[in-house]
Amino acid sequence: MKTQVAIIGGGPAGMLLSEMLHRAGIASVVLEKSSEAHVLSRIRAGVLEQGTVDVLRSLGLAERLDREGHPHDGMQIVWAGRENFMIDVHEHVGKRFVAYGQTSIQEDLVAAAKARGATVLYEVANVRLEGLESTHAHVLFDGNGEKNQRLDCDFIAGCDGFHGAARKAIPASILREFEKVYPFGWLGVLSRTPPLADIVYANNPRGFALASMRSPMLSRYYIQVPLDARVDDWPDDRFWSELKSRYPRDMADAIVTGPSVEKSIAPLRSYVAEPMRHGRLFLAGDAAHIVPPTGAKGLNLAVSDVFYLSRAFADYYGKEGSRLIDSYSDMALRRVWSSVRTSWYLTNLLHRFPDMSEFDQRLQENELQYLRSSRSAQAALAEQYAGLPFESAEGA
Ligand code: FAD
Ligand code: PHB
Repeated sequence: MKTQVAIIGGGPAGMLLSEMLHRAGIASVVLEKSSEAHVLSRIRAGVLEQGTVDVLRSLGLAERLDREGHPHDGMQIVWAGRENFMIDVHEHVGKRFVAYGQTSIQEDLVAAAKARGATVLYEVANVRLEGLESTHAHVLFDGNGEKNQRLDCDFIAGCDGFHGAARKAIPASILREFEKVYPFGWLGVLSRTPPLADIVYANNPRGFALASMRSPMLSRYYIQVPLDARVDDWPDDRFWSELKSRYPRDMADAIVTGPSVEKSIAPLRSYVAEPMRHGRLFLAGDAAHIVPPTGAKGLNLAVSDVFYLSRAFADYYGKEGSRLIDSYSDMALRRVWSSVRTSWYLTNLLHRFPDMSEFDQRLQENELQYLRSSRSAQAALAEQYAGLPFESAEGA
């Protein structure tokens, strides 16, 4: 097999890249390790920055998002025993964000790929990337009952998530890794119940909590749990009573409980791999970086990465040269580190750390106090939560 860009991973980054390349007249093949059904069933992100929505809209992929997504002007922060406050993103930076599930985006991308007859190979195994530093880059894989199939290509896009094969193909002598592991996880529950009207982040002595949504009859809630927590230890009743205990009385009373339809635990970490390019290989999305979900940035970063990457490939195949390809890693990393910082800031602001001293506790309270009382502080957070604008090609 031969193509221009081999895309490893059919999650949001890989499928969106394949769509963008198609629009630019560039051929690609997507190699995905899991089944289509599995990829479509994963419950993950829920909050889209306006920049992400604009990208999907420009590709004609936002018809359902515009119909079913829930636009928000801001998000609320509640803080045990103190007044709640709102970070009004729209008032400060004129942008809105939209609650629309990653599961729905994945469905929209898979439907669009089918409509244009894209080549997406599911359930491929043993993916190996070779010839990255030569002009003969290729991918070897097992699939469709045949071992050692070969896909020749000009470039490889590593969109295969944190545990994928692409990043591991970069020699250890070249790859630099930056990592912070947080001492807790998030237990997430999806339930067919009406959500609260706003997205509400809670800082409570019992730990962090978050109320979010997918649709008028689908709610998504999270609570901070210790690293050794197991889903089996959290039957629905225990989850609901713990969640409610972390919100002020009026909000707790407004939370409508019901049977969970999904329940999972995600550990929290920040991770960045540099550079995001090695020879013919370009990393995008979770393959290159992970942020704790507190800032709702992971999926949005995957979208900005593939926006930069598709623009660079379009420039290259349009015979404009390799300037954008050569600047891809630096440009993407500037936005990555901004989101890493915002996510780290919100994680520190809103969680109870097991080793927190009284000094740390006072600092956290003071930070919340400052945020609640200062319009400038709120404007700064609003700007970051809304997402920084994409850089123009001239900035490369
Ligand atoms: P992935 O979604 O991980 O996709 C990678 C794909 O590659 C997968 O389909 C995988 O099966 C495939 N793959 C892996 N290895 C191989 C291989 N060797 N060969 C071939 N294929 C392979 N982000 C936000 O922006 N907003 C939010 O509100 C938000 N909330 C979140 C809440 C939770 C609980 C979690 C866990 C994450 C959240 N995120 C959020 C993050 C977001 O879900 C991820 O950043 C996003 O999925 C990244 O997309 P991706 O395509 O880069 O990677
Ligand atoms: C979600 O709806 O899943 C969600 C919302 C906000 C976050 C993280 C996740 O910060």
